[in-house]
Amino acid sequence: MIDQRTSQPNAAVVGLGKIGLTLAAVFANNGYNVFGADINEDVVTAVNQGKSPIKNEPKLDQLVLQAHQNQTLSATSLTADAVAKSEIIIVIVPVFVDIQNNIDYQWMDQAVEAIAKGIKQGSLVIFETTLSPGDTRNRFGRKIEEVSRLKLGEDFHLAYSPERVYSNQIIQDLANYPKVVGGLDEKSLELASTFYKKAIGCELIEVSSLETAEFSKVAECVYRDVNIALANEFAKFAETKGISISEVITASNSQPYSHIHAPGIGVGGHCIPIYPYFFIHKGLDRGLTPIARRMNDGMAAYAIGKVEDRIGTLKDKNVLILGLSYRGNVKEATKSTTLLLMEQLQEKKANVFVNDPHFAESEVQKYGADSLSLQGSFVSEVDIVILQAFHEEYSTIDFENFRNCKLVLDGRNKLNKEEITRLGIKYEGIGE
Ligand SMILES: NC(=O)c1ccc[n+]([C@@H]2O[C@H](COP(=O)([O-])OP(=O)(O)OC[C@H]3O[C@@H](n4cnc5c(N)ncnc54)[C@H](O)[C@@H]3O)[C@@H](O)[C@H]2O)c1
Repeated sequence: MIDQRTSQPNAAVVGLGKIGLTLAAVFANNGYNVFGADINEDVVTAVNQGKSPIKNEPKLDQLVLQAHQNQTLSATSLTADAVAKSEIIIVIVPVFVDIQNNIDYQWMDQAVEAIAKGIKQGSLVIFETTLSPGDTRNRFGRKIEEVSRLKLGEDFHLAYSPERVYSNQIIQDLANYPKVVGGLDEKSLELASTFYKKAIGCELIEVSSLETAEFSKVAECVYRDVNIALANEFAKFAETKGISISEVITASNSQPYSHIHAPGIGVGGHCIPIYPYFFIHKGLDRGLTPIARRMNDGMAAYAIGKVEDRIGTLKDKNVLILGLSYRGNVKEATKSTTLLLMEQLQEKKANVFVNDPHFAESEVQKYGADSLSLQGSFVSEVDIVILQAFHEEYSTIDFENFRNCKLVLDGRNKLNKEEITRLGIKYEGIGE
């Protein structure tokens, strides 16, 4: 019997996180032998046992197991080894910003150095991590050239294709969203497009350069940040006029060219609050982009100010924040507005508690907050509730149990205002 695997091309996926492992599993079920590489040994061990260390990603467990059983997916912590076996290398290692919001390339630089040590003649490297326009060519392409001594465009090929999927629906989004692809030259673009047609089978949008593809992703995120900031500005104005912003937005958006976003207590996650700095630090440091960042990061303080206006001092008040995650129905606390709220409430000497059904008590405590169960008797001691992430569990909260609660600040305008006020609890929304 012919072993089909021997006739399949090999691909390396560098970075087996939420996105990388999903990509690896999809490619490994679509005609590629995939060698995943990750510096985290626990991730490598799990993948080599056919298990996904990433939870809450529909269908990922099955795809990883299936690929493991078909022997088309394996993992290693030796990136250069995985790269040396592969004609195609997909790079999906995060680039962050540090505490001062400067771009932090540490993980990616290490990964690229390892790729450069393993790359062979004729290979194609595709970056998928969100990057500042110019980085694929000038920082990483050049680095691979320098370390490997292979010539960019002659001995190896280079492409960029941003990952635009949404947590908790990655596999579905991969199939449904068009994939934007830019190449160093025609050959690189052709190789990358051929790869994605087979490995994902989605619609492709070929763009004219690496930088166009990079820019398209950062622009997408900044567009959302700026529009949320505008919605927040409108919400603040609506409050001064006693108008409901939700009603305004519904009415305005009935016109097909109006797409006003939803206001809220803050913007979190590892995309929207981070990628604007990929522009800001590369020259776009005036104008709307930095203003929007300041507006959105200022919403936590604004919400706390609203609470103080209604309640007075927060010293010794028991404040419960609903949702550690940055948004509803995901388990992800990166740049969550809850972290800003906690810091500012603690400065005001409030007793801060956090509830999140997606996190274990010990996980909440790691963020420096006391975890509070909504089923426990202590809810009757809570003075103020702040809804930060609207998990579906919060649609059925029984506020009758919050016997001493004076105010609910609904940071997402999602709770039942009538029910809350009927119980004699004050209600504040954002722009409501
Ligand atoms: N998560 C999302 O919702 C999302 C959506 C769209 C795009 N993206 C893009 O995908 C990137 C990756 O996101 P993620 O959610 O998969 O990240 P993640 O934090 O889940 O995973 C990153 C992985 O990279 C590994 N890693 C770190 N340094 C490495 C190195 N030198 N070599 C090999 N592996 C290394 C880590 O151990 C980790 O397993 C993001 O930075 C972003 O650009 C993410």
